[in-house]
Amino acid sequence: MRLDKLLAQEKISRKAMKQALLKKEIFVDGHAARSLAQNVDTGLQELIFKDKKIQGYEHTYLMLHKPNGVVTASKDKKLPTVMDLLPQHLQSDQLYAIGRLDRDTTGLLLLTDNGPLGFQLLHPQYHVDKTYQVEVNGPLTPDHIQEFKDGIAFLDGTICKPAQLEILSSSPSLSQATITISEGKFHQVKKMFLSVGVKVTALKRTHFGPWSLDDNLQEGDYRYLNSQELAIIRDFLRKSG
Ligand code: URA
Repeated sequence: MRLDKLLAQEKISRKAMKQALLKKEIFVDGHAARSLAQNVDTGLQELIFKDKKIQGYEHTYLMLHKPNGVVTASKDKKLPTVMDLLPQHLQSDQLYAIGRLDRDTTGLLLLTDNGPLGFQLLHPQYHVDKTYQVEVNGPLTPDHIQEFKDGIAFLDGTICKPAQLEILSSSPSLSQATITISEGKFHQVKKMFLSVGVKVTALKRTHFGPWSLDDNLQEGDYRYLNSQELAIIRDFLRKSG
């Protein structure tokens, strides 16, 4: 949550916040706050305002193994959503998925009620890599590796940033690979493979930045992020401010 929003919830006036910021009287994990817009989670970080510890608000961070057939949305008139996979007490209006997976894409989805975090992680400035396991309906060759590295061009002329393609198996009707991209264009992976003449028949996200899909998490299941995964968020909050 933004620092100013959090302090406002503690009934601290805007004027008092600004003064305290200027006088370096606000500390986040021992560092003077840089801005009132900075993203803070008092569940992960210690917040001190004028020598007083602020309890604030502890955000929720979940990992979900998204199954096929479920849409990445909070509500849908016809289709089941990722929110429907969560128990009632977690289904809040504030909780949302960080990034979208297509209905037929499976794999790692992070969910949080820390609004600014998702925005930051999806922002091109932070270059968060995403890795997918892919199956396609045609052959893949070393030339494709180079094409992905050079930047795939879509039919409309859009050029993608370099992507790493690793071919795991190749045959005329079915190939398997992993691909790592640093952007999040609409249907990006499917469109990249279509641009080189093959169709994606299965897509699973295994990594989102430094977070990996837990092998023990069955499709459709979720869990809270563990302490190591939360430490990555704490680190990110500290660096991104
Ligand atoms: N790229 C796609 O084409 N689909 C997804 O769901 C994710 C990345």
